[in-house]
Amino acid sequence: MAQDNLQRVKVDSKKEFSKLPITGDIDFVDVKGQENVKRALEIAAAGGHNVIMIGPPGSGKSMLAKRISTILPPLSLEEALETTKIHSVAGTLNSKEGLLTNRPFRSPHHTVSDVALVGGGTNPKPGEISLAHNGILFLDELPEFKRSALEVLRQPLEDREVTISRARMSVNYPAGFMLIAAMNPSPSGDFYDSKGNEGDPEHIVKRYLAKISGPLMDRIDLHIEVQPVPYEKLSDKREGETSNEIRERVTIARAIQEKRFGEVNGIYSNAQLTPKLQKEHCKIDEEGDKLMKNAMEVLGLSARSYGRIFKVARTIADLDNAKNIGVSHIAEAIQYRSLDRDGWLGVTRYSL
Ligand SMILES: Nc1ncnc2c1ncn2[C@@H]1O[C@H](COP(=O)(O)OP(=O)(O)OP(=O)(O)O)[C@@H](O)[C@H]1O
Ligand SMILES: [Mg+2]
Repeated sequence: MAQDNLQRVKVDSKKEFSKLPITGDIDFVDVKGQENVKRALEIAAAGGHNVIMIGPPGSGKSMLAKRISTILPPLSLEEALETTKIHSVAGTLNSKEGLLTNRPFRSPHHTVSDVALVGGGTNPKPGEISLAHNGILFLDELPEFKRSALEVLRQPLEDREVTISRARMSVNYPAGFMLIAAMNPSPSGDFYDSKGNEGDPEHIVKRYLAKISGPLMDRIDLHIEVQPVPYEKLSDKREGETSNEIRERVTIARAIQEKRFGEVNGIYSNAQLTPKLQKEHCKIDEEGDKLMKNAMEVLGLSARSYGRIFKVARTIADLDNAKNIGVSHIAEAIQYRSLDRDGWLGVTRYSL
C-alpha cells in the first residue's frame, strides 16, 4: 500500500479524556428523600460554594457529603494531571493508578495534626488540603477540630494554595478544594439532652457554635439543616435522580460561569466573586432589594450574610439559565443562612 494512502490520525486527548466515565459505586440515587438538601448541594456544586450541614446523628450528613464529588463536573485533563502530581509527591498513588480521573474526597479525622492537614515536615509534603485539590475536603464534627487547625485553613481557603515555610526553603502546594463541613446541632449530638429534655441549655449550644471561628464561617456560603428521613421515605421503592442527571445541570451552570469570568484571572466560579465583581454581576431590581432589606431585618441576618446571599443567588439564577438575579433566586438563597439567623436553633427545633 502506498504510503500516501495512510490518513494522518489526530487524537484530541482533551476530548477523549472528558469522555472517561466517573468510576465508583456511590450515587445520589441511594439517598432517599432529602430533596431540599439535595437541591442545596446541587447549588453548592454548581457555584463551588463551601457548605456546612447541621443535623443530628444518623440524619445522613456523611452519606450526602461522600456523594458531592459525583455531581461535580468531570475533571479536565489539566486538573487530573495537577491532582495526580500532588498525590504522587505525597506517595498516596496506588501502584495500579496512572492518572487520577475522579475528583478526590478527603475526610481527615478531627484529631488530625496541623501538619497532616495543611502539609509540612522536614521535606515538606502536601497535607490533606492539597490532596483534596480539585475535589472535596470533608470536615465531619467541625467544632471538634482544634482551633489551630481551623485557623490554618483560612489562608488556603482564600488563595487556593498553601505556603509551607521552613528555615531553608518555602514550598507552595495547590489547595483548591470545596469545603464540606458537618456538625451536630449541640454537644450531646441531638436536639435533646440525656434526660430526654428538649434542647441543651442555650449557653452550652452557643459555646459549641462559638468554637467555629467567625473568619472560617465567613468562607462558608451555604448552611444546610439536615433532618432525619422518616421510615416511610427510607423504605420508599421509588428511585430519585441519579448523580449523572444532577451533574448535567451543574455542568451547564459551570459553563455559564466560565464564560462570565473567562477574562478574569483565577476566578472560576461564583463562590470566588470579589466585592467588585459582585457589583458587576449580581445586580438586583427594586423588588429584590426590598426583599433583601426585609429579610435582613425580620430574620436578624448579620452583615456577613449579605454578600453570601448574592453569590448564592447568582448561582441559583445560573442553574435557572437566567441573565438577571430575580426575587425567587434571592428568596431561596436567604434560606441557606440559618446559622446567622437570630435563634436559629429554635427554628430548627420547631420544625422537627
Ligand atoms: N436519606 C437516606 N437514605 C438512605 N439511607 C439513609 C438516609 N439517611 C441515613 N441513611 C442511612 O443511615 C446511615 C447513617 O447516616 P450517616 O452516617 O450519613 O449519618 P450522619 O448524619 O453522618 O451521622 P453522624 O452525625 O453520626 O455522623 C447511612 O449510612 C445510611 O445507611
Ligand atoms: Mg457522619
